[in-house]
Amino acid sequence: MCAKIEDDTLNGELYKNLLKGNRQFVQDTLKLDPHYFENLAKGQSPPVLWIGCADSRVPANQITNTAPGEIFVHRNIANMVIHSDMNMLSVLDYAVNVLKVKQVIVTGHYGCGGVMAAISNEQFGLIDNWLRHIKDVYRLHADELDKITDIDERCDRLVEYNVIENVYNLCKTSIVQNAWHSGQPLGVHGWVYSLKTGIITDLKVSAYDDANMDNVFKFK
Ligand code: CO
Repeated sequence: MCAKIEDDTLNGELYKNLLKGNRQFVQDTLKLDPHYFENLAKGQSPPVLWIGCADSRVPANQITNTAPGEIFVHRNIANMVIHSDMNMLSVLDYAVNVLKVKQVIVTGHYGCGGVMAAISNEQFGLIDNWLRHIKDVYRLHADELDKITDIDERCDRLVEYNVIENVYNLCKTSIVQNAWHSGQPLGVHGWVYSLKTGIITDLKVSAYDDANMDNVFKFK
């Protein structure tokens, strides 16, 4: 019964091809290093936590030329850091307090569908509640953004502001602040990836302590 459903599914071939691709990956990898998986299975100690967009065109390892084991990854729509998101907080807590990552990087990307949707006045369903946070970022910079008549340009500027705001949101968490207070070296950064060029731009909003944070957000 299940097999029949699978055969009837338009994506049946695609599904099989993914498994075929996996076998190819294993074969190619073992050719270069027969102990690759054996060694990787021993444990992970990635120095970086990546918070990126779920967009299929922005895979953390490939665009930074890094290998499995080098980046701990959390992705959601429009690379958001929302203080009530248990998923993000759990990843952040584990990355900072157990894996002891040295860098947390929020990476947005130009042409982000989530940001574009947030700019519009359309309803998209449940996701509107998620995108609301981006509308809040828009409101903070409405004077500048309203003046940008080209919609793609306006979206890209909001992509940058959204990354900056989410870097700031990371700094506001007790997880990041406690690491700083205890002297654990931890940098928080904001990047934007260009789908058109493949280039990552550092938005230069890095923080290594709470020096530039509004007082009300500082924990003792
Ligand atoms: Co996106």
